[in-house]
This record gives sequence, C-alpha cells and structure tokens, in this order.
Amino acid sequence: MKIGTPKEVLEGERRVAMTPDSALQLQKLGHECAIESGAGEAAGFTDAAYKEAGVEIIKSAAALWKASDVVAKVRIPTDTEIKRLTKGQTLITYFNPSENEEQLKIAADKGSTVVAMEMVPRISRAQKMDALSSMANIAGYRAVIEASNNFGRFFTGQVTAAGKVPPAKVLVVGAGVAGLAAIGASTSLGAITYAFDVRPEVAEQIESMGAEFVFLDFEDTDVKDGAETGGYAAPSSPEFQEKQLEKFREMAPDMDIVITTALIPGRPAPKLWTKDMVESMKNGSVIVDLAAERGGNCELTQKDERIVTDNGVIIIGYTDFPSRMAQQSSSLYATNIRHMLTDLTPEKDGKIVHDMEDDVIRGATVTHEGEVTYPPPKPKVQAIAAQKPKEKKKELTPEEKKAQELAAFKKQTRNQVTLLAIGAALVLGVGAIPNMPASFMQHFIVFVLSVFIGFQVIWGVAHSLHTPLMAVTNAISSIIILGALIQMGSSSLLVTILAALSVFMAAINIFGGFLVTRRMLAMFQKS
Ligand code: NAI
Repeated sequence: MKIGTPKEVLEGERRVAMTPDSALQLQKLGHECAIESGAGEAAGFTDAAYKEAGVEIIKSAAALWKASDVVAKVRIPTDTEIKRLTKGQTLITYFNPSENEEQLKIAADKGSTVVAMEMVPRISRAQKMDALSSMANIAGYRAVIEASNNFGRFFTGQVTAAGKVPPAKVLVVGAGVAGLAAIGASTSLGAITYAFDVRPEVAEQIESMGAEFVFLDFEDTDVKDGAETGGYAAPSSPEFQEKQLEKFREMAPDMDIVITTALIPGRPAPKLWTKDMVESMKNGSVIVDLAAERGGNCELTQKDERIVTDNGVIIIGYTDFPSRMAQQSSSLYATNIRHMLTDLTPEKDGKIVHDMEDDVIRGATVTHEGEVTYPPPKPKVQAIAAQKPKEKKKELTPEEKKAQELAAFKKQTRNQVTLLAIGAALVLGVGAIPNMPASFMQHFIVFVLSVFIGFQVIWGVAHSLHTPLMAVTNAISSIIILGALIQMGSSSLLVTILAALSVFMAAINIFGGFLVTRRMLAMFQKS
C-alpha cells in the first residue's frame, strides 16, 4: 500500500506526520511511502532527506491524496481535504470526532476509513501509539522553557560575588502527562517545584521527580474508581474544589511561575487560578496555561495570546506548543503513526488488515466501511492509570492485633513443621536405600537443610529488597559454579552431568540478573 503525507495546511502548523526515519520503518512493513514536496521543511526535514530514505516526492497535495491508499497527517482535515477522500482510502490523523459530526458523515458516506489519533485508548499496549501523550509531554517541557523565557530571573538559586539569588518557585497544577513533563523540566532547571492533582495516587510520582506534592487537608468520601473514568480524573466535589482554591489562594503570592494543565476529557477546563490569585502574585511572575484550548485553567487566560496584567503578571495561553518544537514532535508523532500502521499490517506484507476486534484499532476508528463507528465501545482492557483506591485499613484494637499476630505465628510454625517433616521423610527415605554411601548421606542432609533455610529466608523478603537479594543469589550462584567446576572432572558420568547442569542453571541466574539490571539501569539513563 502507498502511505502518503501531505503538507499541513493550517497556518502556523509546522509538524509533519512522516519523517525520513519513520518512512524507512514503514517500508520494512512492505509499504511504499510518498510525501508532498516541502511537507517536512518547517520541521527540518528536507525533500532530499526523504528521497534518500526512499520516499517518493509528489508535487501537489491533490496528486498525493489521489495516489495514496493511506493518508497520514497531523491536523483535523479541512473541508477541501475531507472531500479528497475516496472509497476504501484510510485517513490517519487528529479528527476531534466528538465535535466533528459533519466530517464524520462525509467520510462515512464516501466509504473511507478514518483513524482518529486522539481516540487511541490509554491502555498499556497502545502507549506507543498514544499521540496525545507524546504531544502533551512536549507541551509540558516547552511550557517550562516558555516560562523561563518570559521570567526575568534564574530558575536555580545562586550565591555569587554580586549577591544571592533565591531559586524560583514553580507550581504545576495537574500532574498528568504534560504536568509530569513540566515538573521534570522545572526541577532539572533547579526551581523549587510544587505540584497538585486531584488524583492522590500521583503524589508518589510527583515526589519521585523531586517536586513537593501539595496536600489538601480534606477527605473526599466520593473518590471514584479510575476504571470508571477510563483512567482519567473524575470531577471533584464542590467542597473539595473550595478547599483547593483556598490552598492556591494561600500559595499564589509566593509562586513565581504557575503552569496549569488540569483537564478532564470532554469537559471545559476547570477554573483553578482565579483573578484575585493573579492579582496577588508578584510583578514579573509567569502563568503558562496549557488548558487554554478548552477555556483555560486561569480566569484571565486568552487563547493563543500572551498578555501582561496590570500588576505585571505574564499569562501565556498558546495552544501550539508541540508545533513550536516541530522537529521533536514530528519525530514522536510519526513514530506513533508508524506503530499504528504496524498494528494495521499484521503480516508485514504491505497489506492493511483493519481488525475491528482489536481494542486499539476499534477505539481509534471513527468511520469504517460506510458507517460512523464513533463512539467506540469501552475497551475490554482496563486503562493504565485505573487503580482501585486503596482500601482504608481498619484500626485494630490491641486484642485484635495480638490475635492477628498469634494467627500469623501459628501459620508460619505450621509451614515450618510441614517443611521439616517433608525434609525428614526425604532423608529417612534416601537413608533406607541399601548400600547408600555415608558421604552421600552427609551431603544430602546438608542439601535438604539448605533448601529449608533458603526457602525460609527468601520467602520472607519484602519486594523492595529484591534487588539486594538478587546480588546475594548471584554470589551464591558463583559459589555453586565453583563447586560444580571442581566436580566436573569426576570419574562418575552422573556427577559430571549433575555438575554441568549446576553450572548451566547457576549461569542462567547470574546472566539473567545482569540482563534485568541492565534493563532497569537503561530506564534511568538519559541518552
Ligand atoms: P492528562 O489527562 O494526562 O492530565 C490532566 C491532569 O489534570 C490529570 O492528572 C488530572 O487528574 C488533573 N486534573 C483534572 N482536574 C483537576 C483539578 N480540578 N485540579 C487539579 N488537577 C486536575 O492530560 P495531559 O495529556 O497532561 O494534557 C494536559 C493539558 O495540556 C490538556 O489541557 C491538553 O489539552 C493540554 N495540551 C496543551 C497543548 C498546548 O500546546 N497548549 C499541547 C498538548 C496538550
């Protein structure tokens, strides 16, 4: 199939849905690639680079749409673009289906398939296609860079010969994808960073990134299960909102930079930073409102504008942050599209198979075979962030605590006695075999006892201590290998085989441990 990418027509949009790198990967799936001449220029990808990657350059948009079996683009199609769709053609793009009924109908009537990238469900398997998250990540980072560009001071504190500079104080409201990226960028620039979210389960993530979670002194009895809301936050109660505003009002005079990202999908952005809070901020403070597209979290935000209030607070309401980092966002978006096409090409033979039984493909498909297929049914797999709220532990009375401890002790003793009985039966059984050499019995008893002790020790280790435990088991495996190597030269074939098996199994433990450690370290490496 031919995958084609036209130049984005929306003014100011610099992203492109195919990069030379993604084109190479698409060709490995058996597809041909085409691009409209100059489509990647604003993102830093020249026609020559595409040509080198084996991409056909097509002069006009009309010719590209006509020649392509699948059209991949970024922004919601214009009326001219949607009219270019043909029967059986697939369009992969942002589509905003909830507010785009007219285009949905046109595409369905034409018999084309539309895959809306913002509809990719938030389940683990689909993360690689989740364009909303990759773009929000860029927006969060860029929000901090934009804030620092408008802020007249350092982010980090400094002591210089010319005087002491206090660190900037940054508050991030909403710790979803964009919020967490903003926290990461802000802490790495050295600012004191605070963050707030209505989902208390993100407190750990916030703190692990070096920011401080702003706790509210409030107990919400109506906490919704994340699964009910597709992994997103649920609207909070009026009492909670009141408490939240009270806290923000208290913090406002002290904050230098506020980055707001709070949103519940399908709803207007909640107003969390009110006019009086802006008025209480210091001259030169900066607010970056990422939710500007949906009305903004700050009462004074103006969409796509940078304004300065009478008291000198700068409020930025741009809605094109990803496009302001077009090369990076095009790379990530093109990779999201490539992964979507990988799922649509299961045999890697250049043939698209649109499997409507697949949760991800079904979720993102908004028109197919002449039908409007939006909204999709709920995915069968739970959302990533869907976590059951932890059940509150019941306070136990001292008697109940004692009874619980006694029951646990009895259970443990029962297990130990059972294990010892099995061991004793084994030793007796083996000892009863006639002509069993005394030296074997001695080793066998040591072996049974080590199994018992090893089991007792490892079973009780807490999860958080598994990494040091792995180091200890590696050391034990090394001793096993040494012992086995000594036995390897034995004249008995059985002993040699057993020794070789021991070396093999202990080596799996050692090298497996190294591999797991490498993968874990790679997760924290920056490049
Ligand atoms: P997300 O859904 O991952 O995160 C939103 C977070 O806000 C969630 O953690 C949610 O719990 C929290 N939240 C909801 N109501 C809240 C409240 N009342 N108080 C505190 N926290 C609350 O969304 P994501 O992907 O991080 O996007 C965040 C925002 O950034 C969205 O508004 C999105 O449209 C916008 N965005 C803006 C761009 C731009 O160029 N301006 C580009 C990309 C995204």
